[in-house]
Amino acid sequence: MQEPVLLEIRAAIARLLPAGVIASAGAIADAVALLKPAELAPTARMSARRLQEYSAGRGHARKALERLGLRSPAIAVGPDRAPLWPAGFVGSISHAGDLVLAVAAPSSLIRGIGIDLEPALPLDADLVHRVCRPGELAALAPAVASSQRGKLIFSAKESVYKCIAPLTGVFLEFEDVELLFDTGGNRFRARGRGPAAGLIAPATLTGAFAEAGGYWVTAAWQRSRPDPDQD
Ligand SMILES: CC(C)(COP(=O)(O)OP(=O)(O)OC[C@H]1O[C@@H](n2cnc3c(N)ncnc32)[C@H](O)[C@@H]1OP(=O)(O)O)[C@@H](O)C(=O)NCCC(=O)NCCS
Repeated sequence: MQEPVLLEIRAAIARLLPAGVIASAGAIADAVALLKPAELAPTARMSARRLQEYSAGRGHARKALERLGLRSPAIAVGPDRAPLWPAGFVGSISHAGDLVLAVAAPSSLIRGIGIDLEPALPLDADLVHRVCRPGELAALAPAVASSQRGKLIFSAKESVYKCIAPLTGVFLEFEDVELLFDTGGNRFRARGRGPAAGLIAPATLTGAFAEAGGYWVTAAWQRSRPDPDQD
């Protein structure tokens, strides 16, 4: 992994996360961590590559939690593959290409958070209309190149899913979520649609996005005490 790419990604993450959220990012190859007993259950069925990204994710999640005061915490796997964060903390993990990114925060500040890292390459044409609403694509013009809009929306919805699914136990489809973009501030808000309308209380789910080092970095979070002035 070229260091400039990582530096760009770390700088972008620092700008987009709310205060109190700690991030740790690195190259997967440099971050393979020793797993804790509580983290071993799913590893028997993993390929070598998958084991590498899984353990690198645990390694960076541990680093983020340690900066919040925990000592060598374990992050087991919960329902639907969601990480099980230590009591009193929330977080999220993403891997893409050779990179891994993890964030963690005290649940006194942040009720839930999701992050996603995606190579900034066009989304497959047949996926664009499954993933994106016409209004979402239109809202990104002209700030985001047309070839990039689908992938950014895909990544932002993955972040929303990782934030909301562990809180609700509900599997969201792409059409269940609508994103309202503010391209001036590189921000978005998310709302549930149809059967998911009641899952996200109005104006409580905020997100941010950045393009850095050839990747889209997105995050979506709910504060424990909603405070629109801080988002
Ligand atoms: C699980 C999923 C979100 C992973 O996203 P991805 O971009 O393929 O892969 P990433 O590397 O960014 O993320 C993988 C990590 O997400 C985390 N994750 C997986 N399932 C999760 C869940 N249900 N809730 C929260 N986090 C989850 C895990 O930490 C996982 O890494 P790990 O297994 O090594 O711990 C995606 O594959 C998926 O299943 N999506 C279905 C839901 C969806 O997209 N709905 C439409 C959006 S609204």
